[in-house]
Amino acid sequence: MAGAVAPGGEGWSSRWAFILAAVGAAVGLGNIWRFPTLAGENGGGAFVLVYFGCVVLIGLPMVLSEVLIGRHGRSDAYHSVIKVAEDSGVSRKWGLFGGFGILGAGAILTFYSVVAGWVLYYVGVMGADFLGALFSGNPMAGALAAESPETIPTRMTDLFANNWLLLSMHVLFMGVTIWIVARGVTDGIEKAATILMPAFFVLLVMITIYGAFTGEFARALAFLFTPDFSKLSPSVINEALGQALFSMSVASAALITYGGYVAKETKLAPTAVMIGLTDTGVAILAGLMIFPIVFAVGLDAAAGPTLVFQSLPIAFHTMPAGSLVGLLFFVLIFFAALTSSISLLEAVTAWAKEKTGWSRPKSAWIAGGVIFLVGVACALSLNIWSDVRLLPFWPLFAEANIFDTIDGLVGKVLLPLTALLTSIFIGWKADRKLVEAETGLSGGMLGIYRFLIGWVAPIAVFLILLFGLFPQLLG
Ligand code: PHE
Repeated sequence: MAGAVAPGGEGWSSRWAFILAAVGAAVGLGNIWRFPTLAGENGGGAFVLVYFGCVVLIGLPMVLSEVLIGRHGRSDAYHSVIKVAEDSGVSRKWGLFGGFGILGAGAILTFYSVVAGWVLYYVGVMGADFLGALFSGNPMAGALAAESPETIPTRMTDLFANNWLLLSMHVLFMGVTIWIVARGVTDGIEKAATILMPAFFVLLVMITIYGAFTGEFARALAFLFTPDFSKLSPSVINEALGQALFSMSVASAALITYGGYVAKETKLAPTAVMIGLTDTGVAILAGLMIFPIVFAVGLDAAAGPTLVFQSLPIAFHTMPAGSLVGLLFFVLIFFAALTSSISLLEAVTAWAKEKTGWSRPKSAWIAGGVIFLVGVACALSLNIWSDVRLLPFWPLFAEANIFDTIDGLVGKVLLPLTALLTSIFIGWKADRKLVEAETGLSGGMLGIYRFLIGWVAPIAVFLILLFGLFPQLLG
């Protein structure tokens, strides 16, 4: 089934190609690095429960809404929203939220690429370690066997102290991302997703099984699925909703852009549900992959952002075949990060291409180049620029370095705002017939979708925006 229908003749070659690319966009550092970190910090089960609620009530209808905007508009996020607005007889100004999404995608990629650079560094460290073990005739060795558990975490602090290394990893990761996006929808993005995502799933299942046999699986299950309701503070709910939006790639132009390449005959509702639920399934599986290993060696589940980079290598140190599993683990995160960064850059590239008439490669290299340069500031804010404050006058960001400021601005302001506008637009402004026809829903399902996108999503998202910006309201 040829899907090439979008302007410029680009389109997915099949429904599966779209699903893999969209799942690739959704599944990323958010699932494997952030989700377990947040669940660990917020008491496990309670967080997971709220997260799941956010996915079903807000995330899924948002995924469907964005893909339908893209498919109707057949362009980048900004111009697709304008097309839907025009066909609905409402102001073209709604295009603004498409623009916010594109800005959000670019902003996310600035720091995303830096974190993905850390992953790449660990692929190198673990790869060298595994090769060493292999050549010394001991492939079953634990990771970094020559080091002591105390010195292993210094790998990360050493990396942070080394500007050149940090920047080289960032260059390398952005370079690969740009190169793939420049190749186009079918030859670049789709090909990368159809190779990397299946490999990702195989690794995920393999390492989870490994953890189940060698680690404390039952404890991980209890940790993730026993909700302790005393842990449910408004800020946990706030955090869970923000994470759900980020993880499902909602409100950042990526899904609208990918929707633009979907064939007319593809049924959107089941496809959107499949994308959203796969993303959530992967987040949970990532928890079930990571926590048995963390508990097996008595590490702290609430270690925070360093859990994956500092705690897990300590665990791999003592576990059987740890050097191999450690390597595979970071390769898995790398694949997930790459397919997500591709979607982030594509969201910006598609817009740049449409706006300027440049070729795809030119758009990709220029957009990627600008994002890369801002990313350099994020990377340097881990050391020499750690004292630089972008928004010293804003209490929320007064203490934040460049990296945390961009991350926070996107997560707390831009994504919720864009999600709010998207839900109001689709729920209240867009032509009902147009929306119905694109979703392919009818009867009760259509009613549920309309209720979620018109009422539940805007109210809930308004609340995170409010509490994210004014935490003092929460007392
Ligand atoms: N969803 C991706 C992740 O979980 C990040 C992302 C956000 C990608 C927004 C595209 C758009 O890592």
